[in-house]
Amino acid sequence: MTTTPPAAPTAPLLAVEDLKVSFATPQGELRAVQGVSLTLERGKTLGIVGESGSGKTVLSRAIMGLLPRERATQTGFVRYQGQEILNASHKELRGLWGTEIAMVFQDPMTSLNPVQRIGHQITESLKLHLKLDRADAKETALSLLMQVGIPSPVERFNAYPNQLSGGMRQRVIIAIALACAPRLLMADEPTTGLDVTVQAQILDLLGTLQRDRQMGMVLVTHDLGVVATRTDDIIVMYAGNVVERAPTDVLFSQMAMPYTEALLRSIPRISNPSHTRLRAIEGRPPDLISPPPGCPFAPRCPYAQDKCHHEKPPLVEGSAPGHSYACWFPLAAPGMAASTSGTESA
Ligand SMILES: Nc1ncnc2c1ncn2[C@@H]1O[C@H](COP(=O)(O)OP(=O)(O)O)[C@@H](O)[C@H]1O
Ligand SMILES: [Mg+2]
Repeated sequence: MTTTPPAAPTAPLLAVEDLKVSFATPQGELRAVQGVSLTLERGKTLGIVGESGSGKTVLSRAIMGLLPRERATQTGFVRYQGQEILNASHKELRGLWGTEIAMVFQDPMTSLNPVQRIGHQITESLKLHLKLDRADAKETALSLLMQVGIPSPVERFNAYPNQLSGGMRQRVIIAIALACAPRLLMADEPTTGLDVTVQAQILDLLGTLQRDRQMGMVLVTHDLGVVATRTDDIIVMYAGNVVERAPTDVLFSQMAMPYTEALLRSIPRISNPSHTRLRAIEGRPPDLISPPPGCPFAPRCPYAQDKCHHEKPPLVEGSAPGHSYACWFPLAAPGMAASTSGTESA
């Protein structure tokens, strides 16, 4: 029998409160996550989106209890079904990893062992966590390979990671993540680096598995297009802060934060393959060791006014339930949103 966390039926699947993570560096304290709160209910999908360096991976790793405590100072709360993660013992965490909370990261080559056959890597997890015997583990592994859409699973079972394409390797990683039927799946840039067609296939696969299994899923990406159709809620991160959060449809219909709009405009267009390159947001993210005063996005914001450079905007609630944003001059003023969307080609 695996030990399940204490029943806390009223607690959300995942609750993060005012989480702060900083690293001591030779240049000073680097504040990678600066007070993030979020909740995820069972069976729901949360997108976390932001440019490279905005703190998505640090946040995800803190949620999993994976950050080395001696190097990362962490304050606030992370609770999985009411169970505190930040101060959990290694033993408690090991009881959660794989069986309750699983993860899929960007680069399957670093998550798979290159010298072990993929079948072995799946069955090991099943034997360890679910105490399956050899025959049951193999049968379950083959069924998992089938569920993640790997053709000829019997042959692939004996293949080494480098004998598979990037997309197939990511399917194997997903099979391993799902092996023990976790309730929460953390997917950090699960398709970055794959070509767009394979990306869509893998994301659709994750979506199907998430719905079928009623898993909670946190989908982390730099690409707002990836989360647009695949999440219930979205959190937009900038320089370690949540700068906008909303139910997904509200985010796209009532976008308030100029940074979110800039992310939207940098989405690669699949419909136009010759122009798939990102239109990067101009300027650079702020220094996380000595950030400028005011709104962290102000130096790059086309709408910034004097106040933005001096006073940091708090996260305030918008008119739609669940919508909040950190901006002194939100786009919601209809004229502003209209004047900036007109330049996009139809
Ligand atoms: N172990 C570490 N030590 C020092 N700084 C770190 C460490 N890990 C991440 N960072 C810094 O934290 C910030 C956020 O990084 P990360 O969460 O990886 O961003 P993202 O995943 O959004 O691209 C970056 O400035 C990064 O350099
Ligand atoms: Mg990352």
